[in-house]
Amino acid sequence: MFVFTSILFWASVTLGHPYGPADVSPEQWKALNASVGGRLNVGIPVARPCFTEAGTGVAGSTNAIECAAVRQGWGNSLFFVEQFGAYQNVQWGSCQATTQTCVISGANTSDPAPSNPPNVCQQGSVPPHYIDVRDASDVQKALKFSKQTGVPLVVKNTGHDYKGRSSAPGSLALWTHNLQSLSYNASFVPAGCPASHAKPGVTMGAGSIITNIVAFAEANDITVVTGAETSVGASGGWVMGGGHGALSNTLGLGVDRVLEFKIVTPTGAFLTANECQNTDLFWALRGGGGGTFGVVLESTTLASPKMTLQVAFAAFSRTNTNATRGFYEVLVENSVRWAEQGFGGYIEPFQALYVTPKLNSTESAATMKPLFDYVTSLAPTDPGVQILSTELPSYGAFFQNFLANSGAPVGENAALGTRLIPAANFNSTASRSALVDALMQTLAHVTFDLTLIATTPYNVPDTGATSVTEAWRTAIWHAVAEGGWDASVPIADEKAAYTGISQAVDFLRAITPDAAYQNEADIHEPNHEVSFWGTHYARLLQIKKKYDPDNVLSCWHCVGYDPSSPRFSCYV
Ligand SMILES: Cc1cc2nc3c(=O)[nH]c(=O)nc-3n(C[C@H](O)[C@H](O)[C@H](O)COP(=O)(O)OP(=O)(O)OC[C@H]3O[C@@H](n4cnc5c(N)ncnc54)[C@H](O)[C@@H]3O)c2cc1C
Ligand SMILES: *[C@@H]1O[C@H](CO)[C@@H](O)[C@H](O)[C@H]1NC(C)=O
Ligand SMILES: *[C@@H]1O[C@H](CO)[C@@H](O)[C@H](O)[C@H]1NC(C)=O
Ligand SMILES: *[C@@H]1O[C@H](CO)[C@@H](O)[C@H](O)[C@H]1NC(C)=O
Ligand SMILES: *[C@@H]1O[C@H](CO)[C@@H](O)[C@H](O)[C@H]1NC(C)=O
Ligand SMILES: *[C@@H]1O[C@H](CO)[C@@H](O)[C@H](O)[C@H]1NC(C)=O
Ligand SMILES: *[C@@H]1O[C@H](CO)[C@@H](O)[C@H](O)[C@H]1NC(C)=O
Repeated sequence: MFVFTSILFWASVTLGHPYGPADVSPEQWKALNASVGGRLNVGIPVARPCFTEAGTGVAGSTNAIECAAVRQGWGNSLFFVEQFGAYQNVQWGSCQATTQTCVISGANTSDPAPSNPPNVCQQGSVPPHYIDVRDASDVQKALKFSKQTGVPLVVKNTGHDYKGRSSAPGSLALWTHNLQSLSYNASFVPAGCPASHAKPGVTMGAGSIITNIVAFAEANDITVVTGAETSVGASGGWVMGGGHGALSNTLGLGVDRVLEFKIVTPTGAFLTANECQNTDLFWALRGGGGGTFGVVLESTTLASPKMTLQVAFAAFSRTNTNATRGFYEVLVENSVRWAEQGFGGYIEPFQALYVTPKLNSTESAATMKPLFDYVTSLAPTDPGVQILSTELPSYGAFFQNFLANSGAPVGENAALGTRLIPAANFNSTASRSALVDALMQTLAHVTFDLTLIATTPYNVPDTGATSVTEAWRTAIWHAVAEGGWDASVPIADEKAAYTGISQAVDFLRAITPDAAYQNEADIHEPNHEVSFWGTHYARLLQIKKKYDPDNVLSCWHCVGYDPSSPRFSCYV
């Protein structure tokens, strides 16, 4: 069946329909629509209303009022999340290989040039059709349709993905955004498990986003581990790929905490996966990656009690680049101790934000003294110096004060590269100095930023329950290098941006083993199977073949992906 649909697909390509089989009749679409309660929609690039002209097959029309809303919302991740036709890192709505796009400028959203003639709104990689998924039956209908027609399927949740895994040219998308339910059960028992397995759990619809989950946890006096940005999905790609957050050092990654998934597998079975049933699938979903083993409708994550947190923050002026090397030296000197003390956090070249549930305020201020002393020493010549040591009553308070408005850039193009940096790199004078050198070299080669993310599960042992690389457990940092360029910059430059960021990370690759975070990785990560999954790849592939024998679900650098598939024709 797989071979057959592939041949059909290629035939349509040669007939001049580069974006997929054109041989789906209007009747077939109509029947699909009827079978999903009328929730089949056309996918329209978010900036379409701003364009006077559009390419063949692009639905929608020019509309001044809607265009004004797009210009106002551009770059606001909470606005993008509501729009099916928006991708947070906008190149994934474009077809990079053919330069077909439909964007405005992220740097100046009121600039009319990108949407004025001769520019034309092109469909790019935005799926031309999508189903607003509400239940398992919607997914089952889509799977059947894809099998019959050869139209490729993608799963889109928030569209935050950095590797284009939630879009594909000519595809039918399953949009999970409207699966927004949240509930708390203080003694959640995974289905099929004995009552003795009861644990506090939050069950989240697949579309749930972090800001809502944090607020929900706060209202219930509990703590849930989440990522750092308001609108990333916590029950979709984030958790299946690993899912790190400020409290992961002591509470674990998203994959460590998940108690159950409800999922429709590619053959159409609606299954519950937990530690008592479909355990192979459960293991694969705990790190094997989104968009690969099925379509998750909901997941349940462990809830911890509300906890008091110690926060340390130190910053100097962004322009004081001379201070960065000394700053890195202090960080590298002290970070193993801080990791042992439960600190998680986010480090930019000019600031560090740390949080721990394990210390009291005296202990926190004392252990952070080297950091505070260093930054304070800059104060005579740097008016931007800030030091803060404070106690907060909950993760919700920390999120609101330090993360909710962090303004992670969206609405631009982004190219990432990552490396998990193990404790071994911090363990001798020579290795520390090599690490500082490599960080400085990487920083010199990134066009946007280098973030050292101290969100590794350093105090959470590997029990074999997850399929992410074992390297997470011994890592002190997940270092993320990011290149950014304006949405409206000519697409021809994109290949160079990917190559550039990859070369920047090479300085860190040279001194560390192959280990990276699949959700924030270089799209051309060398040896990605080992880097993302360590020793687990062979077993993941076996499970993939068991649950998806026809390879219906496929995405870039995902388990079992075939790089020659036409669905990847837009990658550069
Ligand atoms: C601004 C920003 C901040 C970020 N911060 C963090 C952070 O703090 N911590 C962290 O770990 N990561 C972070 N990330 C990375 C994030 O984990 C990935 O972007 C992740 O892919 C997002 O998943 P999603 O479901 O929200 O996005 P989408 O782009 O919609 O989906 C991502 C992938 O998951 C699949 N998928 C989504 N939903 C489902 C489902 N229900 N069933 C099956 N497959 C599904 C998609 O097919 C795709 O392959 C951040 C990303 C951005 C852009
Ligand atoms: C699907 O049906 C609904 C309700 O009849 C309709 O509003 C919608 O436009 C249809 N979708 C497509 C893609 O034709
Ligand atoms: C943005 O574009 C508008 C319209 O072309 C122009 O008037 C304005 O000066 C630009 N703003 C910036 C900051 O470049
Ligand atoms: C919580 O889960 C238990 C065990 O499955 C169940 O008996 C109980 O009804 C649930 N409580 C709520 C409030 O849903
Ligand atoms: C950085 O150091 C150089 C050389 O020591 C000096 O010339 C320059 O003024 C410094 N810049 C800042 C911002 O301190
Ligand atoms: C913090 O803990 C230490 C013991 O490690 C104790 O001596 C000290 O009194 C505590 N401080 C506060 C503010 O609780
Ligand atoms: C330090 O790291 C090196 C390289 O990985 C390793 O061989 C050595 O055992 C480590 N030493 C300590 C004390 O951890």
